[in-house]
Amino acid sequence: MDFKTQVAGSAGLAGVAADALLVLVGGQAVHEDLEAPLADVLGAATKDGDFAFKAGHTLYAHRVAGVKAARVVFAATGDGSVKHLRKAVLAALAPLRSGGTKALAVALSGGHAWTAAMAEALVGAVAEATYLYRETKPSATPASKLATVSLVCAKGDVAVLSGGLRRGEAIADGTTLARECANRPGNHCTPSFLAEQARKIAKEHGLKVEVLDRKDCEKLGMGSFLAVAQGSDEPLKFIVARWNGGAKADAPVVLVGKGITFDTGGISIKPASEMDEMKFDMGGAASVLGTLKAVASLKAKVNLIGIIPACENMPSGRAIKPGDVVKSLSGQTIEILNTDAEGRLILCDALTYAERFKPAVVVDIATLTGACVIALGHHRSGLFSADDALAHELLAAGEQALDPAWRMPLDEEYDEALKTHYADMANVGPRAGGSITAAKFLQRFTAKLRWAHLDIAGTAWKSGHAKGATGRPVPLLTHFVLARAS
Ligand code: BES
Ligand code: MN
Ligand code: ZN
Repeated sequence: MDFKTQVAGSAGLAGVAADALLVLVGGQAVHEDLEAPLADVLGAATKDGDFAFKAGHTLYAHRVAGVKAARVVFAATGDGSVKHLRKAVLAALAPLRSGGTKALAVALSGGHAWTAAMAEALVGAVAEATYLYRETKPSATPASKLATVSLVCAKGDVAVLSGGLRRGEAIADGTTLARECANRPGNHCTPSFLAEQARKIAKEHGLKVEVLDRKDCEKLGMGSFLAVAQGSDEPLKFIVARWNGGAKADAPVVLVGKGITFDTGGISIKPASEMDEMKFDMGGAASVLGTLKAVASLKAKVNLIGIIPACENMPSGRAIKPGDVVKSLSGQTIEILNTDAEGRLILCDALTYAERFKPAVVVDIATLTGACVIALGHHRSGLFSADDALAHELLAAGEQALDPAWRMPLDEEYDEALKTHYADMANVGPRAGGSITAAKFLQRFTAKLRWAHLDIAGTAWKSGHAKGATGRPVPLLTHFVLARAS
């Protein structure tokens, strides 16, 4: 897909050359900035009750006399926010996605002007609506012929809006990579596959990658990560990818992604229904890869390190058992009361490993708890951090990127739940507050770090009819990292 800017000629929007013209209309009535043939159609439809100036309402018109583009779609942008613009574009693409449109021009009417954030959101919405998973179903044919999208704007705005489009493309490409990895089934997307993906991004964008295997992890003493991996015949990978875009002395941002390529629950096995969705349990890892790609492709002046502990969680004759005690890389011992609470067991060693990079900040991203889905549903990711400034940076990045998070508590009282007679901590507490005790567990490994945790169990994929990976939170993370670049 090609995204560009286009300056309207003297004939205005009616004269724009494209297969389809999308007019994003703001305000509460037809605005005087719209040329007669377009204004007439929109005015008549509004009067007839077929169009309303509410976010997401659309009107399709074919071969309007006096308009050069064969197809015209009007879409209302509601309150004029970037969020509503995104909603309008997604709604407008429904009739265009499956038709004959190859070249789409997108314009504004209603007195509001494009901003770089709007240009970025336009790209994100188009990429989201036209994504099609084909890896294991090559017979799936793309409904969309869309090849170019041009943003119609004033000449003086071209430079700044082109910047918005480029940023949007980088984020969209990173998000698509994350979706593509996470959508692949467990027999395709293995720890080795994730390592290959990291190497591929490294080759394309100039990153440095190191992949540790089981022996390396044994030498280091990653007893907790190794314990989860030991039940599987699939070799574990501990992936470290580095983008050195900043000055040598700049402390890096470290992202740690949960890379469970399939979570059966282990001996504490999960029920059969919907277990297939546990192929998405590497969504955190996928978002780290997508963010590395986005940040590197923009050549951001920042040092960014992605750490991905990757393995399967399987029941077998070699698997960990409830009650087993293991020693983590930090030296702290853990009683594994539930083998299905495996995410925290692989992340804790990765967090300790992150210390060696003397990071500015560390953010881990994980499909960690079903409890987080109960708490926040599928709209906002759960954010945990004792560091107010870091929490606010991440929340702000989420709002800007239209990939929102919500802060959850970390009071010391929740830590009681992890006490046990047999080790420094248990890996689970009671059911109540499950996403918080999971975060409290991780926090025990972050004494030397500025740390935040994103629980993306509710946002990394969609279930049911629209089942599929979302690529979240690549937009949030990319905004966060870019805001830290010099
Ligand atoms: N990967 C799951 C979390 C999950 C479950 C995400 C369902 C999305 C949907 C994680 O490894 C897990 O199994 N967590 C357990 C923890 C429990 C045993 C304390 C859970 O949430 O049930
Ligand atoms: Mn689990
Ligand atoms: Zn899991």
